[in-house]
Amino acid sequence: MNPTKPIVAPASDKTNAARRESLTITDNRTGRQYEVPVQHDTIRAIDLRQIKVNEDDFGMMTYDPAYTNTASCISRITFIDGDKGILRYRGYPIEELAEKSTYLETAYLILHGELPTNAQLEDWTYHVTHHTFIHESIKKFLDGFHYDAHPMGMIISAVAALSTFYPDAKNIFDEDSRRKQTWRLIGKMPTLAAFTYRHSLGMPYAYPDNELSYPGNFLNMLFRTTELKYRPNPTLERALDVLFILHADHEQNCSTSAMRGVGSSHVDPYSAIAAATAALYGPLHGGANEAVLRMLLEIGSVNRVPDYIKQVKSGEQKLMGFGHCVYKNYDPRAKIVKHIAYEVFDVMGRNPLIDIALECERIALEDDYFVKRKLYPNVDFYTGLIYQSMGFPMTMFPVLFAIPRTSGWIAQWQEMLLDPEQKIARPRQIYLGSDERSYIPMDHRG
Ligand code: CMC
Repeated sequence: MNPTKPIVAPASDKTNAARRESLTITDNRTGRQYEVPVQHDTIRAIDLRQIKVNEDDFGMMTYDPAYTNTASCISRITFIDGDKGILRYRGYPIEELAEKSTYLETAYLILHGELPTNAQLEDWTYHVTHHTFIHESIKKFLDGFHYDAHPMGMIISAVAALSTFYPDAKNIFDEDSRRKQTWRLIGKMPTLAAFTYRHSLGMPYAYPDNELSYPGNFLNMLFRTTELKYRPNPTLERALDVLFILHADHEQNCSTSAMRGVGSSHVDPYSAIAAATAALYGPLHGGANEAVLRMLLEIGSVNRVPDYIKQVKSGEQKLMGFGHCVYKNYDPRAKIVKHIAYEVFDVMGRNPLIDIALECERIALEDDYFVKRKLYPNVDFYTGLIYQSMGFPMTMFPVLFAIPRTSGWIAQWQEMLLDPEQKIARPRQIYLGSDERSYIPMDHRG
């Protein structure tokens, strides 16, 4: 054992210590003390590496499965206070943006850090709108999928394929190139999404209409049939725009971490977006809205809700659309979504599944199981009902999440690329497998 030997902090850290902005750690294995700086209520994991039992020791690491208490970056994009139910993009509360902004304006804000001037918004809208067309070969590519292929599988493949059409996207440190890929990605995601939908119906692809708004054009590419000019219903167009605003970014969630992690290898943004979209596909993330609707259909009627809740409490089921990794309060997006649901029902008729959803929420918010675990409705609890009422098949729900999240993914990717502290993502592990052993020939194996 090494004797107790306090390690003297460097001079700059002493000042911190005087202000109590440091952490003193005693290693009880050796009796040594270490002082590590604290900044933003955080210590640097690498500062723990100096804590060793002897010189051959690798040094102390932290164990944090799923990184639930590890900040992997410094970000200035999205702020969440999960306990208070606060969400802000670049400082602006989500409630204000949902009320006053449009998706394209919000995407600009997320990507550039400030709300655009009139001229900036015009320029931004022009460029995104003029990148909505996709190469005709992409259509052939989509035609290769089965009619019942899941649209998320199709869009993941299609967005990855875009990288082969735009080899200039590899110039990730060229600002002009990044700007162009941003226009292309935000412009083309709705087109790819709509084409996957039309493919599943066996309908001819409907081309973008540059005179329509971002959500209006998306509705046009989805639902246009024989009309010479498609005119989106303004309530549905605005509802979709607000849903897009709500889904634009959500700091370091699973798909954003995928975007940053894959992007940290310096691959082109289309390949990184394909990875992020794949992460979003899972039922615990962007696939939850689809899972909620399947759950409501399975419950079937209001009087079967108590039975279902019993199954949830006994661990046989999950109440999909409830609970969140960071919100331990009502998800602020869910409140807005609930409001939009009624606006959409006014146009499309009341979705009868809303009564089952409301009863689930009513029971859950009063039940000890959910109260103790701080399980509240998340953004996905009501979105599925809206999408279904608007005529989307369930499989399209996660796609409707991927379209707006593209702006957040790109902003986070760019922030990662331009951060001199970032490197290729490479977490550590605690190896608990076999120690070295010799190969056993087949006829000697038990
Ligand atoms: N239904 C029933 N019990 C739940 C649920 C749920 N939806 N979510 C968490 N719990 C329980 C869980 O079983 C655990 O209980 P216990 O302490 O007895 O073991 C406790 O609550 C804590 O759960 P956890 O898994 O540690 O919580 P988490 O914060 O790691 O998980 C979550 C977050 C979103 C993965 C989880 O709540 C969940 O699976 N929810 C359903 C899926 C869903 O709606 N996902 C959409 C998330 S919002 C959209 C997005 O941003 O992607």
